[in-house]
Amino acid sequence: MTLDEKVGQLSLASNGAFYRPEDVRNGRVGALINFNNAQDVAAAQKVARQSRLGIPLLFGLDVLHGFRTTFPMPLAETATFNPALARKAAERSAAEAAYIGVQWTYAPMADVSRDPRWGRIVEGAGEDPYLARVFTAARVEGFRAGGLATAVKHFAGYGAAAGGRDYDATDIPPAELRDVFLPPFRAAVEAGSETVMSAFNALNGLPATAHPGLLTAILRNEWAFDGFVVSDWAAIHELIAHGIAKDGAEAARKALLAGVDMDMIGGLYNDHLADEVRAGRVPESAIDEAVRRVLRVKLRLGLFERPDIDAKRVDAVFPTQESRQAAREVAREAVVLLQNRSKALPLGPGTRKIAVVGALAASAKDQLGPHAARGHIEDTVTILEGLRARAERAGVIVIYAEGCELRCETTGGFGAAVDAARSADAVVAVLGEPEAMSGEAASRAHLGLSGQQSELLDALAATGKPVILVLVAGRPLSIGKELEKVPSALMAWYLGVEGGPAVAEILFGDANPSGKLPITWPRSVGQVPIHYNRLPTGRPHRSDNRFTLGYMDEPMRPLFPFGFGLSYTNFSFSNLTVTTPQTSASDIVEVQVKVINTGSRAGQEVVQLYVRDVVASRSRPARELKAFEKIMLAPGESRVVTLQVPGRELGFHLEDGTYVVEPGRFDVWVGADALADLSGSFELIDGLRLLPGQREATRVQLVK
Ligand code: BGC
Repeated sequence: MTLDEKVGQLSLASNGAFYRPEDVRNGRVGALINFNNAQDVAAAQKVARQSRLGIPLLFGLDVLHGFRTTFPMPLAETATFNPALARKAAERSAAEAAYIGVQWTYAPMADVSRDPRWGRIVEGAGEDPYLARVFTAARVEGFRAGGLATAVKHFAGYGAAAGGRDYDATDIPPAELRDVFLPPFRAAVEAGSETVMSAFNALNGLPATAHPGLLTAILRNEWAFDGFVVSDWAAIHELIAHGIAKDGAEAARKALLAGVDMDMIGGLYNDHLADEVRAGRVPESAIDEAVRRVLRVKLRLGLFERPDIDAKRVDAVFPTQESRQAAREVAREAVVLLQNRSKALPLGPGTRKIAVVGALAASAKDQLGPHAARGHIEDTVTILEGLRARAERAGVIVIYAEGCELRCETTGGFGAAVDAARSADAVVAVLGEPEAMSGEAASRAHLGLSGQQSELLDALAATGKPVILVLVAGRPLSIGKELEKVPSALMAWYLGVEGGPAVAEILFGDANPSGKLPITWPRSVGQVPIHYNRLPTGRPHRSDNRFTLGYMDEPMRPLFPFGFGLSYTNFSFSNLTVTTPQTSASDIVEVQVKVINTGSRAGQEVVQLYVRDVVASRSRPARELKAFEKIMLAPGESRVVTLQVPGRELGFHLEDGTYVVEPGRFDVWVGADALADLSGSFELIDGLRLLPGQREATRVQLVK
């Protein structure tokens, strides 16, 4: 390969106005983004075959939660606490995209985030490193099984943007970075993610796009990652705005030398790297290393042997009956029942007429959510349509009043909505945030219902009719005040094409809600960042002592804890037994608990296990999720559930990156959310120590 051909392999171009087939023909492009139909893919690949070396292009796209069949957003999907569903959704999404020639997805997003102001929280797995690890790995496995390579993103720390402002800098102490933010990425690499996308943000003063500590020391050396790193969109160019490069040449040099192998759409590698090599500022061996990584992935994907895609294929063959079923299944389990006073739900036989209010009930686009790839509004069954179809089967009448438009800036429609409510037996108010207020570049400083939605809800509640609040949003909203006015509320996120039928099933009681919050739900924006796995303090909160942790004007408790979600039945937890009261870091901790369905409906419960390392060399979180299992119980049924935690999982990092599991006592809780109070304890009689990059742990004896 000539130097220019090598650099070409490191350059990713986008479809659109700036796409120039002659660049592909001249070997100046290694990969393409935003080619989302077979015709375009086939045409571009044909041009690549005409280049001197004929190296096939790699086609990438943001396939996050579906291709043509849109599944719930990843955060919603995480609320299922059912990783098998996430795997299945990823596999189907990948298979649909692969059908028209896409080969590589910019997913999953593995950014842990504890800040609902950050709009992209909807694209990830929430606040917990363990839950995020499990779901990230499941998604990588699913996408790969469906035929796409993955680019786990955004490496790293992007979810901790200061103030929840997208693109803002991130400051994360090294030990916390390794304990909280890196584990989902590592899980992705271990699950075989072929590529990694670097993040936009600066991490501790150095932009992730030029961060050798992250991209080379940790990713390449410690984790032995041998795939390639792609930058985020034009992020190499942004090194100039970050203030660490004076021009494009310096930006390209810094990114490459830090370990960014491929330049996403910036064109700076093409413009400058060959000159940088000729000037002796970049060793050609560094280019070779990056090219080897890119070609290794192309070889692994079998691109050199693959026949070109049949240009006649169209994604209109989807959604199929099966893909709809899968999307419905995920949507159904993603819904979180937040409140259900006086059992207003499910709607009973006395409900003969329902008033549906809110523009979000009828907006297919918003139900699809951000990054809907080839999701079509015509394929989408809205909440209103889903309810209508279900109600019709039961002879129930559904009337609809918008109330106000999506952002609810005017009140002109309130009168008609109130009239509709008065004439009905129950009101379903579908409120929240349109999808444009969620996702990338959608940070919010206020977490309340926007516009006049709260006033609309007031007016509906004042009719005296039971109002069911269905929240369509990408993040928890501070709705404490609103919840006082309504008996029942559910979180319906952005549920995708089958969201309408799924919500209808839940409202009518055909399905029993089983979703659990993958994030702590704040009361107010002032509590943010808020997460359950916080470090203890020397002055834990006490309501009778001012000089303890707390706010003057807000309780310490969130509105809803992490892991929370109601059901139409009740579960009781008892008989917690640690079957391994003394164990070793190289062995397994096993806890058993009896769970009983004490209600009269079958339902699923998520049995959650939390631990605390009671005395350690560094403060350890008050609680950490270490295992969970979703089980189905018939009415009256009981089951002894056994949860296991490898002792090796009970450790933490020191500032220098060393991982330690320290011997001593651990407390353990099992229950239905992060406030579970059924507890026990166990002792680790020995621990272990792993230096950064070390594979075999050293045993550490308990010193009494
Ligand atoms: C986003 C990435 C995405 C990329 C390509 C960027 O703006 O940060 O998550 O993969 O665009 O669409």
